[in-house]
Amino acid sequence: DVYKRQHPATAANVATLNERGAVLVGPEEGHLASGLVAVGRMSEPARLLGEVRLLLSRQNGPLAGRKIVVTAGGTREAIDPVRYLTNRSSGKQGYALAQAALDAGAEVTLVSSAVGVAPPTGATVIAVDSAQEMADAVLAAVRDADVLLMAAAVADFRPAQVSQQKIKKEGGAPVIELTPNPDILQLVWKQREAEGSPQVVVGFAAETQDLLANAGGKLTRKGLDLIVANNVSQADAGFAVDTNRVTLLRADAEPEILPLMGKNAVAEEIVGRVELLLA
Ligand code: CTP
Repeated sequence: DVYKRQHPATAANVATLNERGAVLVGPEEGHLASGLVAVGRMSEPARLLGEVRLLLSRQNGPLAGRKIVVTAGGTREAIDPVRYLTNRSSGKQGYALAQAALDAGAEVTLVSSAVGVAPPTGATVIAVDSAQEMADAVLAAVRDADVLLMAAAVADFRPAQVSQQKIKKEGGAPVIELTPNPDILQLVWKQREAEGSPQVVVGFAAETQDLLANAGGKLTRKGLDLIVANNVSQADAGFAVDTNRVTLLRADAEPEILPLMGKNAVAEEIVGRVELLLA
């Protein structure tokens, strides 16, 4: 407890505040203005905002009491101890989905292979590297979840052999043989048929051509309730940018074409659809 080492007056005041139901954020440990390294730093504004956001949504959000698993980022498939294969996914859309689900009051587990994106306050983050690790984490996490939002860009193939030593250039240009990764959504579909959860599964399709036909095929092949299709060949939609232009596809409804919007707004639209699907 960060207050243990503090002055008795501070400790007593903190206890009084706790008794009155106040929620305390921080202080954090680190360098202080006095030059000391100790407990006493203000929490970062992002954390303060995140905690406030969480408190406001917790009580009466439309997804209060629901458990949502979100995946994000591109997986990394090892070639040797220093190199890997990956893709252009930044994880931004997945993190925005996690935040939107938290804002709606859900309990969120974020299975993430993204790097350099700050996770939203309140999400339980499971960091993974490879598609196989992501598959294991997702299959375990969805067992008691209501919803899976599969926004990660999972590598379809991985190197068949992972060299235990760094591959040296004296050996000449290596030929890297690839082998298929499991399709995580198909594994989830199988487990869901056997065990019943999650109730709602949403997939994402990044396409560069024949958007509706390709995404519609994935909707059926992966047993999804909803697929979010986007054309990643446009400069203002898809990888690494803050905006997206998506089409929502369901088996039993006309495609819904959403206009260009921020990834946060896209996430809120998707979470809104999830609420309807759960209801
Ligand atoms: N996906 C998955 N497991 C994989 C590959 C993809 O669960 N091994 C999921 C993605 O997270 C996404 C959806 O399937 O929600 C569609 O991913 P995408 O890469 O567009 O589809 P693929 O099945 O890989 O088809 P293709 O690469 O031929 O477009």
